[in-house]
Amino acid sequence: MKILVTGGAGFIGGNFVQYMVNKYPEHMIYNLDLLTYAGDLTKHRDIEHDENYRFVKADIADRATIMELFETEQFDYVVHFAAESHVDRSITEPEIFIQTNVLGTQVLLDAAKAINVKKFVHVSTDEVYGDLDFDPTTFFTEDTPLAPNSPYSASKASSDLLVRAYHETYGLPMNITRCSNNYGPFHFPEKLIPLTISRVLADQKVPVYGNGANVRDWLHVLDHCAAIDLVLHKGENGEVYNVGGHNERTNLEIVKTIIAQLGKSEDLIEFVTDRLGHDLRYAIDPTKLEALGWQPTYNFDTGIEQTIEWYLENKWWWENIISGEYQQYFEKQYGNR
Ligand code: NAD
Ligand code: DAU
Repeated sequence: MKILVTGGAGFIGGNFVQYMVNKYPEHMIYNLDLLTYAGDLTKHRDIEHDENYRFVKADIADRATIMELFETEQFDYVVHFAAESHVDRSITEPEIFIQTNVLGTQVLLDAAKAINVKKFVHVSTDEVYGDLDFDPTTFFTEDTPLAPNSPYSASKASSDLLVRAYHETYGLPMNITRCSNNYGPFHFPEKLIPLTISRVLADQKVPVYGNGANVRDWLHVLDHCAAIDLVLHKGENGEVYNVGGHNERTNLEIVKTIIAQLGKSEDLIEFVTDRLGHDLRYAIDPTKLEALGWQPTYNFDTGIEQTIEWYLENKWWWENIISGEYQQYFEKQYGNR
């Protein structure tokens, strides 16, 4: 069995590649990634020589290369993570989000259709539903209308609709998964949790947008990997599945939790200008996925504790990242702090 994972050098795709290589030695796992600023292969040093792992450097939007690769390798399954994923970057530079997330997905769909893959799993996000108010009884279900608010979420919603259309028009077997915010090992340090950990460890100010009251629904990345594995094997053809673990926290709670575990002062918190179009609250109803047999295994309080420990033990991975072009990104995004 040949399984192509796109974006397998990034955060979630990277965790998924390792999960699949270790769990299924009998399957060949291909990791296709362009290695943008968000992708790196050092995270795969423990599996890079495994016989059932192969890396291919390519741009998903490069039609000729992708079509030829699919023709040559005849993949059985595609699990599609590759994307531009950071909301803030989409606000300053939307174009690459359309190029990669929309046009890149369309190229993959054409290639998957050409060789009749058994299933195309499209990894999407709860952000396609827009946002919720603070009423704790409201959740995103698979029937919530799409109402994306950022260029990032609009590009993801567009790609979801293309996947749906290829299923309806050409009969391409597919599932779409829509997950809430992930946390865990190898989370790129531009995102709230790893950014806070790295800043607090260096006694630097942590930028909190607005008043810090916005709510995200956090899920451990390995629970997300297990969900995708289940959908790949058991998902009903053509269906959408929401993924989330009912772990709602305000951004301020997250930042204070990290500061407390690292034994530092809350004086490090700095409230800064709010993100444009900042979504208020995300919260997932995962009932449909649970009916398929999925349950999250990580409790958030221990999951975040273990994640902070992981960042302390794996400075070799993230210190290298934040010393490079990341510095320029940080200054452009937050000014000189
Ligand atoms: P990430 O930014 O950490 O990784 C993205 C990967 O895609 C990188 O390795 C990058 O090199 C690669 N890539 C980018 N453009 C490419 C191109 N043109 N061709 C080939 N590879 C390319 O992203 P992530 O946080 O791991 O998210 C992965 C997927 O999951 C995305 O589709 C995202 O929308 C979705 N998602 C993320 C979250 C989250 O909390 N991070 C939650 C729900 C859904
Ligand atoms: O919900 C799923 C989405 O989660 C994914 O689709 C995205 O790819 C992923 O990046 C994530 O999006 P968010 O915008 O929710 O994640 P981020 O870590 O950027 O921000 C989390 C919250 O923290 C959000 O409300 C904005 C806030 N924030 C973020 C940063 C980077 C701050 O207050 N300060 C910051 O410096």
